[in-house]
Amino acid sequence: MQLDVFTLVPHAFAWLTEQRPVASVLGTELDLRLFSYRDTTPLRAGQVDDEPYGGGAGMLLRVDVVAAALDAAYGAVPDHRIVALTPQGRQLTQDVVEELAQEERLTLLSARFEGFDERVVQHLASDAISIGPYVLSNGDLPAMVLVDAIARRLPGAIREESGAWETFSAELEGGFEYPHYTRPADFRGWPVPEVLLSGDHGKIDEWRREQSRRRSLL
Ligand SMILES: C[S@@+](CC[C@H](N)C(=O)[O-])C[C@H]1O[C@@H](n2cnc3c(N)ncnc32)[C@H](O)[C@@H]1O
Repeated sequence: MQLDVFTLVPHAFAWLTEQRPVASVLGTELDLRLFSYRDTTPLRAGQVDDEPYGGGAGMLLRVDVVAAALDAAYGAVPDHRIVALTPQGRQLTQDVVEELAQEERLTLLSARFEGFDERVVQHLASDAISIGPYVLSNGDLPAMVLVDAIARRLPGAIREESGAWETFSAELEGGFEYPHYTRPADFRGWPVPEVLLSGDHGKIDEWRREQSRRRSLL
């Protein structure tokens, strides 16, 4: 998958690219490209923002700046999905992640200040996505959330088995993951459930499914 992120701070993504699962698929299943709006802005002195028409607090990321960045990267009008990250967008869920992970090419637009000139969302983006019902200072953390969530759905990012049995997976009927335990088997009188020590994998799977169902009802 080619995943392009447009941002004002490409270097902020350095940490993410060193972490698994992103690091595991970079250069193979994932071609992550970072673009700075400032590199292609048509305005002087690297300007990218401006005051809102009608007045009001804060600055907006200009539509011509975002358009110039997209034109420089793609030439013509892109025919793949262009996702604007905004708190007013479609709420991110695992189903949305699965859907986006199927794309061969995907672009994420991150804003800051008071957000995008609305014409970016209306005319340049095909989708608007929110990572949750709260407001962050910029779209870089949301973009990283999406890159990470998508990367772990790409082949080779994580062990197939752990992906199949994790929270929201089809194997667990979209529910929560079952509880995990490791050594010691008894700590301060808090024992590990006996079934997990039984070695009976049929019973262990059954117990795990039941635990997942119970947790998901909470
Ligand atoms: C300070 S926010 C703008 C908030 C906007 N003025 C409002 O009231 O909805 C700046 C940028 O951060 C990003 N952002 C903030 N919260 C987000 C969220 N929950 N999901 C996705 N992007 C978010 C978006 O790119 C947004 O344009």
